[in-house]
Amino acid sequence: MARNPEHLHALVFPYPTQGHITPMMQFAKKLASKGVIVTFLTTHHRHQQITKAHTLSAEQDDPIEQEARKLGLDIRSAQISDGLPLDNMGGELEQLLHNLNKTGPAVSCVIADTILPWSFEIAKKLGIPWISFWTQPTVLYSIYYHAHLLEDLRHSLCKGTADEGSISIDYIPGVPTLKTRDLPSFIREGDADSQYIFNVLRRSFQLSREADWVLGNSFDDLESKSVHLKPPVLQVGPLLPSSFLNSEHSKDIGVGTSIWTQYDASEWLDAKPNGSVIYVSFGSLIHATKAQLEEIAMGLKDSGEFFLWVLRPDIVSSTVSDCLPDGFLDEIKRQGLVVPWCNQLQVLSHPSVAGFITHCGWNSMLESIALGVPMIGFPFWADQFTNCKLMADEWKIGYRFNGGGQAGDKGLIVRKDISSSIRKLFSEEGTEVKKNIEGLRDSARAAVREGGSSDKNIERFVEGLKGRGI
Ligand code: UDX
Repeated sequence: MARNPEHLHALVFPYPTQGHITPMMQFAKKLASKGVIVTFLTTHHRHQQITKAHTLSAEQDDPIEQEARKLGLDIRSAQISDGLPLDNMGGELEQLLHNLNKTGPAVSCVIADTILPWSFEIAKKLGIPWISFWTQPTVLYSIYYHAHLLEDLRHSLCKGTADEGSISIDYIPGVPTLKTRDLPSFIREGDADSQYIFNVLRRSFQLSREADWVLGNSFDDLESKSVHLKPPVLQVGPLLPSSFLNSEHSKDIGVGTSIWTQYDASEWLDAKPNGSVIYVSFGSLIHATKAQLEEIAMGLKDSGEFFLWVLRPDIVSSTVSDCLPDGFLDEIKRQGLVVPWCNQLQVLSHPSVAGFITHCGWNSMLESIALGVPMIGFPFWADQFTNCKLMADEWKIGYRFNGGGQAGDKGLIVRKDISSSIRKLFSEEGTEVKKNIEGLRDSARAAVREGGSSDKNIERFVEGLKGRGI
């Protein structure tokens, strides 16, 4: 089918978890606001889950399309089988693209999550550009891109013959000096899951070199331009709903892709003084031990500060209430609120929130930066260790827990370190990191404003697509 450069049609295909769907949907909205038609692809299971989470109104047939319509954007929703999303589902994707080409304007490019590399071959077969979309910091992109430089170290770490923590790594282009403990867990750990994911990443980064463009959810003032990468990462973030980034009236409050119903904590927050609440959340994926949850519960209580804690029901294998100390929920009634899931952006933008205890998932960190909320890093897995290092030591917009403990299977952050770290946030040290993050908040907002670095990068990208005559 003939392609009309005036009718660009992008297929946007995130890896189907919350931390990837959310930023790629925000990017889809940006593209659509620049006149590009977007088909947003998720798996059947995720689509059903998102639909179920949005039982807000009866007419809400497809929450993705409905929210786009409300914003006046042409975003269409499509689904693919669940399968194992990391596996090769090329046949199905190819069929979907053929169907889309028959029924609407021909698809002019595939914008796929970097970790869905098999989509590259389909785009090439159809003769359309393939764009690799990276949802983590550009520093992480550089680490995986240069993983060959870490091969010997990785073998020793995985075999347990090198020090897990303190070896310095100062030779990765575009990456500040790291200790081994700051590396992503998939490079450090030798269990079968980590090895499997590392192999997927290795393939992803081989193919990403062939991409027509690489886009990333970061911004130029935060991470320097990645001239050492080919192609370089065009930074288009932070990808957040516009209503949280500027004071202009906007209907976009970003509820369209939440995979669980969001508890509304605003009434509870409204009743608290400004700058008095600690928000605690560990994103959508990590699992914690019962022992760790008990320490967090007691650390929060012992701090004496107000707290709002998102405790996902699936964070532990047993039920959440079994993991909390006896009588905890009754005892903290005046001090805290525990909810299964919320609208994190609404919470972080509430004036009563003073700080964020976070697992350092990249979306959570960018949201905290864009809303000027200092963090206490509690990394468990994947990129979270490196993100925490950037947050605490490079950007100085928060800190790690006192005592240097580690969460996850390998250790325990204990209650006294949790309560003392929370108190630190209300001390002079807290004031310092607050000042730093407010500076970055302003840069983040400037980047996405019309004419800002990320806005210009998106313009450049769209113009580049048009220039291909596709
Ligand atoms: C995963 C990885 O764990 C993370 O390390 C990687 O950087 C991205 O993919 P996830 O663990 O879900 O993501 O964390 P994060 O990236 O922080 O994304 C969580 C998203 O869920 C955020 O956009 C946050 O706003 C949202 N959220 C969180 C809610 O909507 N409600 C909540 O109650 C908690």
